[in-house]
Amino acid sequence: MRILDEQVDRYLEGLRPERSGPMAEMEELASRDGIPIVHWETGRFLATLCRALDPVVLEVGTAIGYSTLHMAEQLREGRVVTLEVDPERAVRARDFFARAGVADRVELVEGDALETLPRQEGPFDLLFVDAAKGEYRRYVELADAKLSERALLVVDNLLMSGEVALPEDAETRWNDESLAAARELNVELTTGSRWFGSVLPVGDGVGFAARA
Ligand SMILES: C[S@@+](CC[C@H](N)C(=O)[O-])C[C@H]1O[C@@H](n2cnc3c(N)ncnc32)[C@H](O)[C@@H]1O
Repeated sequence: MRILDEQVDRYLEGLRPERSGPMAEMEELASRDGIPIVHWETGRFLATLCRALDPVVLEVGTAIGYSTLHMAEQLREGRVVTLEVDPERAVRARDFFARAGVADRVELVEGDALETLPRQEGPFDLLFVDAAKGEYRRYVELADAKLSERALLVVDNLLMSGEVALPEDAETRWNDESLAAARELNVELTTGSRWFGSVLPVGDGVGFAARA
């Protein structure tokens, strides 16, 4: 399932500019090895925030560093701390950061984010969550005390290929736990007391919020 109509999807793809060497390589590698990365539009959304705000970013879920690179390319004084549990992916990400010339702006912390996140100092101006779907809420809770007053929260995959909108007993590709976690977070970001935000139909659905 896709969020957007096929025609609209194709149109948006046609608008994508040519990617730089390492970024194009990352997309090829992700597609070849089935490594999950954000849609280009989500990467560009994050990049736009970084270009305008030059924030200190905390990213949960690096994979091979595709979304990190989108952000890091636009930073000047800002930097990205990115958390990844898979050591092989971390090695690949570090290699890409070096070759893309952004290693000085990126700190990759290896290990389970549930353990490494509480050790990060902050304050962070932008939190990007894109790791284990069932743990999303926990990452946001753990990061809360480390976020600056005006921090922005961006969360990927909150529409889960559109499957969050299906009835609860429908057959789905995403597992029940992940769907339940996304539905819960969607409510929290739009009508909860801690966050003031919305769910944008960008990529696979992007939660975007400021503190309430
Ligand atoms: C969707 S991928 C991240 C994609 C990346 N943000 C991008 O768009 O280029 C999710 C990553 O989170 C990692 N991950 C899952 N659970 C984690 C955890 N508890 N701590 C740290 N990383 C985790 C996975 O190993 C995987 O590489």
